[in-house]
Amino acid sequence: MKHALILGASGDIGKATAKQLAASGWSLYLHYYHNQTAIQKMIKEFSQKYPKQDFLGVHLDMRDTTSLSQLYTSIFELDALIFAQGTTNYQLLTDTSSEDLQNLWMMQVGVPIEMIKKFQAKLAQSKNGRIIFVGSVYGAVGSAMEVGYSTIKGAQTAFANAYAKEVGSLGITVNVVAPGAVNTQMNRVFSDTEHEQVSENIPLGRFATPDEIAYWLVQLTQKQAGYLTGQTIYVDGGWLK
Ligand SMILES: NC(=O)c1ccc[n+]([C@@H]2O[C@H](COP(=O)([O-])OP(=O)(O)OC[C@H]3O[C@@H](n4cnc5c(N)ncnc54)[C@H](OP(=O)(O)O)[C@@H]3O)[C@@H](O)[C@H]2O)c1
Repeated sequence: MKHALILGASGDIGKATAKQLAASGWSLYLHYYHNQTAIQKMIKEFSQKYPKQDFLGVHLDMRDTTSLSQLYTSIFELDALIFAQGTTNYQLLTDTSSEDLQNLWMMQVGVPIEMIKKFQAKLAQSKNGRIIFVGSVYGAVGSAMEVGYSTIKGAQTAFANAYAKEVGSLGITVNVVAPGAVNTQMNRVFSDTEHEQVSENIPLGRFATPDEIAYWLVQLTQKQAGYLTGQTIYVDGGWLK
């Protein structure tokens, strides 16, 4: 049986990914930061529906590396590592503190890289390991008021480019799924009017659903996806890329 660790499984894209992977027969380590309730609910639902698979919740604050050793002791088998956690700051760069920039970096690049270093050997065992980041179209085109966020999303793509070359011989693929605008908690800060204005600029005329992003993450976990590596796939309804 295959095992995936989903970071940010308590978020909207993470939850949709967990649901699709559980339905495809995967056992899951489900990470959360604040939202333990979402994870407990999923574990209850999945354990009833898929009694032969294992589901375990794992807690971690990814702004620093302090609790990483605790995480390492909870993970036994690992075939896929999916980074679906993340936050942004809507601010001018000059108003953004060093601490906020450091938190963005650690949560979405620094801590994931430390985890990958630790998990590389486990991911290599099947000769078919998967590392997938949920990036952003802003990592390619940039966004005013989200300069720090755009920078770290670009760094995820740069990391995947390079690391894919280093671990190809181990059968590990490294890719990024980069959404445009998705209907999730992250975008609840927008008013209805702002939401409509953004939608008008998207050729498909609407935000993506979390399921439509999870679909591509799940495709990349499949064995038949094993020849795609070092890529960033933009899933933005034709918006910016
Ligand atoms: N929504 C969009 O339009 C959009 C567009 C492009 C890219 N993305 C990317 O998609 C990914 C998922 O976002 P989402 O839209 O699904 O947002 P979401 O529903 O707000 O989920 C955010 C996730 O990040 C976790 N998180 C927050 N602070 C954390 C911390 N300190 N340490 C560890 N985890 C932490 C949250 O955990 P708790 O809830 O348990 O606290 C939650 O699981 C992010 O990387 C985001 O950048 C989103």
